[in-house]
Amino acid sequence: MNLTRELLGRAARATPAVVEDRGSGWWIRHTDGNAWWSGAVLAHDASDDGRVAERIEAAERFYAERGAAARFQVCPGCPPDLDRILADRGYRWDAPISLQTMDVAEPVEARPVPGLDVRVGSGLEPGWLAVLAITGGPRTVVENETRMLNRVGLRSAYVTVLADEEPVAIGRAVGDDGWTGVFGMATAPRARRRGAARLVLSAIARWACEQDVPRLYLQVERSNTAACRLYAAAGFTEVATYHYRVRDVHAPG
Ligand SMILES: CC(C)(COP(=O)(O)OP(=O)(O)OC[C@H]1O[C@@H](n2cnc3c(N)ncnc32)[C@H](O)[C@@H]1OP(=O)(O)O)[C@@H](O)C(=O)NCCC(=O)NCCS
Repeated sequence: MNLTRELLGRAARATPAVVEDRGSGWWIRHTDGNAWWSGAVLAHDASDDGRVAERIEAAERFYAERGAAARFQVCPGCPPDLDRILADRGYRWDAPISLQTMDVAEPVEARPVPGLDVRVGSGLEPGWLAVLAITGGPRTVVENETRMLNRVGLRSAYVTVLADEEPVAIGRAVGDDGWTGVFGMATAPRARRRGAARLVLSAIARWACEQDVPRLYLQVERSNTAACRLYAAAGFTEVATYHYRVRDVHAPG
């Protein structure tokens, strides 16, 4: 449970919100757009002090002031009755996520793939963003993501795979005190199933070893079969699952 809480805290630092509030003891995070990774409450205080409803109300006020949907991360480190209370308040269940880890103390060299080259940089590059623009799902707004990435204060690696000089696959690694978070994995549709994402993961594993942050973690939506298979084949294993509870904003009728 502590590992889950620790890794979700690291993931939050690697995807910084615009506004944060820790006044209630929970970590309330808000960002532009609808990205769950930067805009949810980390209710990681499982102490049963009878203040859960009060803290929920404080978070609801925080989001209401910003015209945003209230969203809570519900994980094993949260108060046991959090999920039930949110359900009773009309929150819908959303985005079940698998939290996975892998130790890369001895990374296996990736077999080169003919026609694909790997580039590892320490900052955002136009090619990286170009792949994000064509692969981002409905929750990804490139301008918001760019601002979020520019807020990251931890050392990072931006991995890009090129096919004939064209960027076709990306991933991002964030090193944080012994752990490396893996984020933003995506391959352009035309370049899928050629081993590009596997190359990105291998480059991240090498970077993690070089930086002496050799334990990897990532989060993947459980319904994402392609990504789950990619990570399982690479050696990741699940340490916990969690989900979100969301109360949408309704336009006044
Ligand atoms: C998931 C994703 C990054 C995989 O990229 P990719 O470059 O096509 O993956 P690779 O070619 O390196 O595949 C490596 C292995 O992953 C698994 N895999 C990848 N895509 C798969 C699919 N559609 N179905 C089943 N397994 C798949 C396979 O085990 C594959 O090995 P194999 O081709 O030898 O069987 C790509 O599908 C994608 O961009 N999806 C949309 C964005 C996304 O979901 N990102 C992950 C967020 S956590």
